[in-house]
Amino acid sequence: MRVLSGVQPTGVLHLGNYLGAVKQFVKLQDQAECYFSIVNLHAITIPQNPQVLMEKTRDVAAIYLAVGLDPKKATIFVQSQVKAHAEAAWLLQCVARVGELNRMIQFKEKGKGSDSAVAGLYTYPVLQAADILLYQATHVPVGDDQKQHLELTRDIAERFNRDYGEVFTVPAILVNEVGARIMALDNPEVKMSKSAESEYNYITLLDDPKKIEKKLKRAVTDSENVIRYDPETKPGISNLLVIYSQLADLSVRELEKKYEGVGYGRFKKDLIEVTVDTLTPIRERYHEIRSSEELDRILREGAERASGVAEQTLCRMKEAMGIL
Ligand code: AQP
Repeated sequence: MRVLSGVQPTGVLHLGNYLGAVKQFVKLQDQAECYFSIVNLHAITIPQNPQVLMEKTRDVAAIYLAVGLDPKKATIFVQSQVKAHAEAAWLLQCVARVGELNRMIQFKEKGKGSDSAVAGLYTYPVLQAADILLYQATHVPVGDDQKQHLELTRDIAERFNRDYGEVFTVPAILVNEVGARIMALDNPEVKMSKSAESEYNYITLLDDPKKIEKKLKRAVTDSENVIRYDPETKPGISNLLVIYSQLADLSVRELEKKYEGVGYGRFKKDLIEVTVDTLTPIRERYHEIRSSEELDRILREGAERASGVAEQTLCRMKEAMGIL
């Protein structure tokens, strides 16, 4: 089993990134050969301040370590430091079809149909395919929003194998049954997102207890005051139930029972406590790691290891395509 996944350094990771993807990474590092990347080439598909982007790239690396990723078990690297990604992406742009890219929901949502959206925003699902296929990944753990891009990756791999000969492993998608789409706290109709305008959309892994309390107290619920999982009619409280269940390792059913006849005030108070208890050690470890010199060394070694694997696949791709 070989696993690859990545996170964009577009902001501080939030509970959605953690519960949808990164928490799985930590478990998988004990079961498989793992590659976890900070995908900074994806981040520049929307405008970034160059200095801030460099800092955010290291921030995500430090968060990876703070949540429990271990560089002795998993290869942790920055995408731009492995040159094969950009090169393989070009080769695969000549395999992907315009019709496929036209259907990508994230492009439609982020580009909003504007002519001034950068071309990279349109083609970045192909870069994502390159990220995965270069490592011959068998499994890719992601949140629900990335499913469509992963289907595209599988289609590109199958087409390449058919047209040029067997080069790629076709990866399976690993999506959590619960927690694959954590919704925004201030609007449970949309997903929690790092680049949301309001900070009341998300809880970041670095929020302090006061912030966590303020954001959860303001989280949108409904007027029924009954704790029941029903995403259709009670999206706010259902989202909070999912967050609680994933943080406390309890099922939603168990939580519904526990809070039968209890109002939202008490439920939110307990959720605040569980969230603070989970995030406090992560935040403390993050600050230790971020200020240490270890980080750049870990990333350098990670990039070297990743390059070794990626270059081998890139050579096979070029040979298959007749590229000198
Ligand atoms: N709300 C979410 N619920 C569950 N999983 C989520 N993921 C993202 N949002 C949620 C998963 O987190 C991983 C890393 O995501 P990403 O940084 O590569 O980009 P994204 O999916 O576009 O996440 P954001 O937070 O919404 O970032 P921005 O605002 O920059 O676009 C992925 O596995 C993703 O599925």
